[in-house]
Amino acid sequence: MSSVGARNPTVAMIKKKPLLPQSARGMSCAVDEPPSINILPAHTPALFEAAVRRAALHLRRGSVVVLPTETVYGLAANALNPEAVALLYSIKGRPANNPVIVHVSSLEMARSCVQSWPESASRLASAFWPGPLTLVLPRSTQIPDIVTAGGNTVALRFPSHPMMRAVIEACGFPLAAPSANLSSQVSPTTASHCAQALEGRVTLIVDGGPCQIGIESTVIDLTLAEPRLLRPGMISADSIRAILMTDSSTWPSGVGDAAPTMPGGEPLRSPGMFAKHYAPQARLLVWSWKNEQALQDRIATMSPEQDPVHVIAHTEIPLELQRLRSPVGVSVIPHDPEAFGRALYSELHDCDARGVTTLIIETVPNSPRWEGIADRLRRAASEFETGRIE
Ligand code: TXA
Ligand code: MG
Repeated sequence: MSSVGARNPTVAMIKKKPLLPQSARGMSCAVDEPPSINILPAHTPALFEAAVRRAALHLRRGSVVVLPTETVYGLAANALNPEAVALLYSIKGRPANNPVIVHVSSLEMARSCVQSWPESASRLASAFWPGPLTLVLPRSTQIPDIVTAGGNTVALRFPSHPMMRAVIEACGFPLAAPSANLSSQVSPTTASHCAQALEGRVTLIVDGGPCQIGIESTVIDLTLAEPRLLRPGMISADSIRAILMTDSSTWPSGVGDAAPTMPGGEPLRSPGMFAKHYAPQARLLVWSWKNEQALQDRIATMSPEQDPVHVIAHTEIPLELQRLRSPVGVSVIPHDPEAFGRALYSELHDCDARGVTTLIIETVPNSPRWEGIADRLRRAASEFETGRIE
């Protein structure tokens, strides 16, 4: 399981710009004081306990807290408190028609959030929970409208990260938690990504170390006649199909489609399906190349001296570019989907921080274990080329 924050031995206090919306201020903030972000370390048992207590206290008061999960960091609020969830939407700048995932720490809590618990949910929960799988089910009356964007379904996840689980247990209520970034930006996988993204908007971040999975959970809708994969992730469609024993010729349907249109202002089925959803600032090209020379020739046409270029490779490593280091940056991630998932968003955040204007990522294999990563690359890429550079 995830290592819990091996960094930041002391509480980091970062003075920040004033919070943007007055309504988004944490309840413990003094009005005249510029708010500061507390980043709580959690890498010893005593620090862990202290962080759980402090986070739970804030959440009970209706504040929002940034918490680690095994996928990406989440911006958490009491899912049963509509004002707290409204605060979360306003901090994130999230459109009101995009529902949020509800996080639970037991099957019992999960069942209290839904109207019915089908056999398919039992099977998937026993196979993959706690873990990076989100189940969309008919919502119970205790879930406020704002959580589901007015829809009659709720997305539920039982995360495996010990900090997230401990905080939910300490609270005794489920936590609504979208990824802790501003709407449509890259999800955070470290506490410092969260601090950068939410500067001036939150007061408490619990540092649970770098996320073990690194991309968002797989989302599957179990409210339709056939299960529908809404967002691919590290739990592949194949492994879900194996558990559900669904006919492979008809399922999954519609994965990666454009967002469904909803007549009459109905909530969107899953806005995470939008074509551009997880985009970094840089133009992102997904390419493969015959050899390093071919790649170098193509990059030479891009004036990398003026417009910084960065390459992320995993099989055909451009050793010469890596040795020169400038003007083209090179990162090498092992050719392994778990390692790639863990590293990808950090690389995107680093490139944005360094002002990279073009990011070239080597094409990933077309196989079930890579489908979550391929999905995020497709959504983040402004150009998507599958051919080889010869
Ligand atoms: O791994 C994750 O899922 C992370 C961590 C923090 O748990 N959370 C996350 O939340 O990625 P967010 O809000 O960034 O993405 C949730 C996705 C969105 O695409 C949203 O539209 C969809 O889940 N969603 C939420 N509730 C839904 C519902 N009732 N029906 C369909 N889709 C839903
Ligand atoms: Mg998100």
